[in-house]
Amino acid sequence: MQVCVIGTGYVGLVTGVCLAQIGHQVICVDNDVEKVKLMQSGQSPIFEPGLSQMMTANMEAGRLEFTADLQVGVDRGEILFIAVGTPALPSGASDTRYVEAVARGIGQHLNGGYKVIVNKSTVPIGSGDWVRRIVLDGAAEGRSETPSFDVVSNPEFLREGSAIYDTFNPDRIVIGSSSERAIDLMQQLYAPIVTRQFAQYPDLPPVPVLVTDLTSAETIKYAANAFLATKISFINEVGNICDRVGADVTLVAKGIGLDTRIGNKFLQAGIGWGGSCFPKDVSALVHTATDYGYNAQLLKATIETNRQQRLIAIDKLQQVLKILKGKTVGLLGLTFKPDTDDLRDAPALDLIDRLTHLGAKVKAYDPLISSDCNRPDLAKITLTANAQELASGCDALVLVTEWQEFQELDYALLASLMERPTIVDGRNYLDARSLANAGFDYIGIGRPP
Ligand code: UGA
Repeated sequence: MQVCVIGTGYVGLVTGVCLAQIGHQVICVDNDVEKVKLMQSGQSPIFEPGLSQMMTANMEAGRLEFTADLQVGVDRGEILFIAVGTPALPSGASDTRYVEAVARGIGQHLNGGYKVIVNKSTVPIGSGDWVRRIVLDGAAEGRSETPSFDVVSNPEFLREGSAIYDTFNPDRIVIGSSSERAIDLMQQLYAPIVTRQFAQYPDLPPVPVLVTDLTSAETIKYAANAFLATKISFINEVGNICDRVGADVTLVAKGIGLDTRIGNKFLQAGIGWGGSCFPKDVSALVHTATDYGYNAQLLKATIETNRQQRLIAIDKLQQVLKILKGKTVGLLGLTFKPDTDDLRDAPALDLIDRLTHLGAKVKAYDPLISSDCNRPDLAKITLTANAQELASGCDALVLVTEWQEFQELDYALLASLMERPTIVDGRNYLDARSLANAGFDYIGIGRPP
């Protein structure tokens, strides 16, 4: 099938590359000419394991192209994905100006042939009908007087760091539309994934496809992320209770997770959730609820619990170091999760703010963040090239991101570089006994000493 993906951010690029991989003819459009040139030269603008290789292989196979010309993309694609950003406004609502511009642009370039316009961006609930109207407005300004198209909501459920795996091994595919023609085309598009032709376990039953109305599909995306964020805030709260009563939250999580009604995933206590999706989506859902006259108290508590949780490592440092002013704290990891270079809404940024506010000196080591990244929010800290350089002269370390390499560090060596070796394991990722044997005072989250 002929597919056009508009917007080559995280979601758009992964979607475009994966649809090419399953055999479709894909053209990706972006209005950033420099970025398009980079991608045309076979380089991925984002870090995602396996993406670059898959991108170049599909370009070489002639199934994947990049252009800055929306007209070319709209002419070529029978299915047009809108995959541009919907960043949070200060109010918590989503900024939909990029979606609006693309929808108008599509309308202006429509030329008679039937198109399916797919909202892949996480758009506010109710956007499907709004997009339809904007496309019609655009068409009235453009060259098509009788545009023929339908709008579909097809939310993505990809995790950064495992986006390719998630695309080929989804738990479900959601297609929201009132048009049978559009639903049928979307089912054809995803058939190779539904029948698990690219899955890790091809013998599993077909992937469930849930067909809904537009608004329900849009709500599923928000509800899924809000539920996962609430699950994490819940276990973090239980962890804080564990800290006080002397229980171990990792055992409690195991014990409740074995109940299939609860499930064992997303129950890792730590220093809170971050990233480009959970914070934005939970706030947007609260905002929508308020707009429609409902006070979403549980979701507000999910956000507030997370805000407090991000600073839990500071309480733990204060218990050991007392005054933080003049002390040096080393952060192991900065990104909001491992296997990504994404710092958006990362708990590390709140930690840095608070620690520097309290007068501590902050150093950090992250495998994918280097000192030449020139980020203003990292200007007040020292980025080191490795963990040894980080530990040297530190009063305490905080493990912020559970990068695999942090499990393999020589902690005895790190301890020898510190005066009174202390580590707060913000992800309960390290083995407490090994750390103690290496000479560290080990402090977990929601675990007894
Ligand atoms: C999340 C969802 O998991 C995806 O299904 C969704 O498609 C995506 O948002 C999106 O809306 O685009 P992502 O933000 O990549 O994916 O990251 P997650 O793996 O969900 O982790 C989010 C945050 O929760 C991270 O900061 C992570 O450290 C934290 N987390 C996760 C915990 O603190 N505990 C857990 O048990 C799991």
